Amino acid sequence: NVLDADKMAGALERHGYVRAGSAVDADVVILNTCSIREKAKEKVFSELGRLKEIKDLRPEVVLGVCGCVAQQEGEAIFARAPYVDFVVGTRATASLPILVDRLRAGDESARHTADTELRNDSIHFPFDQIRREITGLAKAFVTIIEGCNHRCTFCIVPQTRGSEVCRDMDGVLDEVRSLVAKGFREVEFLGQTVNAYRDVHGRTLGDLLVATSLIDGIERIRFTTSHPAQMTDALMDAMAAARPKLCSFLHLPVQSGSSQVLRAMRRGYHREAYLAKIAGLRERMPELSFGTDIIVGFPTETEADFQQTLSLVQEVGFDMVYSFAYSVRPGTAALGLAPDLPDEVKFERLARLNDFQKEIQARRNQRWIGRDVEVLVEGPNRKNAREWTGRTSEARWVHFQGESAPGRVETVRVAQVSAFSLRGEIVVGA
Ligand code: 5AD
Repeated sequence: NVLDADKMAGALERHGYVRAGSAVDADVVILNTCSIREKAKEKVFSELGRLKEIKDLRPEVVLGVCGCVAQQEGEAIFARAPYVDFVVGTRATASLPILVDRLRAGDESARHTADTELRNDSIHFPFDQIRREITGLAKAFVTIIEGCNHRCTFCIVPQTRGSEVCRDMDGVLDEVRSLVAKGFREVEFLGQTVNAYRDVHGRTLGDLLVATSLIDGIERIRFTTSHPAQMTDALMDAMAAARPKLCSFLHLPVQSGSSQVLRAMRRGYHREAYLAKIAGLRERMPELSFGTDIIVGFPTETEADFQQTLSLVQEVGFDMVYSFAYSVRPGTAALGLAPDLPDEVKFERLARLNDFQKEIQARRNQRWIGRDVEVLVEGPNRKNAREWTGRTSEARWVHFQGESAPGRVETVRVAQVSAFSLRGEIVVGA
């Protein structure tokens, strides 16, 4: 979503627009949206209610909705929020500036346009137009594949992002080289199913990782999000070959530790198969850290299934877990599967999982105390402006004081740890 917003900004800048300080000062306001869970979607409508106040004061302001809610709801957004001028879906960003121009010029026929066509050429958004402002100058996101061909029964993404389309690997490498020239040290390859990447010449994510690791000036390579069923031996071998530039962190969403629930989710693997992938990765790269996504309270999930999730979390030893209470999404297969579990059950399991993982993480982070870590500095610590914040190769947040700047790589000796971050001091002369 962050990269999508930078693409929208870039497309508009080419038409002479400049970024405003805030929505209150803007002539054009675009809400970029997420619909992965019900709550995310509802947030969009309450935010629109707040933006309506700006439209009430300055009716000439052009207000649009982009992203997944735009794709999902289309014209229905106008029924619920008639003051919204336009809706542009996830694969129509290129048509954004012309539409905005027309609306700004007072073209009434453009009002209430909903462009939700799922274009296959959206993946070819010209990379020299992207305004990478939100993520700063240390790390750049690079889309390599868009959409999803899986049919997980909980998930709305195939509807909101369409089916998979891949960029040509040569184009991706050109973009990486242009990023190096601009001073970026880290790239993160993106896709809803990034490890399904295969270009028209049959070149895979593994090929891309190895080729990127040979580019001078790139110091860190990441990719997200991988589907466990497509984490092949060949990709694991390529990852090992792309070390050490390939970072020591892999996000591999498991969703559940119960094979029964995984089957109901149509994930295409069971518990033991997931654990075997982790083992295969650790065999090749013993230093690798793992992150995951987990949904609790999926329909049919019993307490025993949930216990299986806790035991898997314990067994793998994740360094990061994003956990979610299942939320029903329109048009997904889980809808007809079984009754939704009561909210109390879902949220009680969510709280138990979070407490469980927090303890694991705090314990695991102890291993960093006294060690020197390489930190790619992203910027000032948002909670304490006297400190800098950056990430280790393992994607651990590190805070430290002293002379530094965004984009620099510092050696920091870790003195304190919590479940979510490390804190230390720069090692002078390292
Ligand atoms: N309910 C709850 N969580 C969901 N996710 C995707 N769909 C749903 C849903 N319907 C979670 C998954 C996914 C992450 C991005 O969001 O864990 O990996």
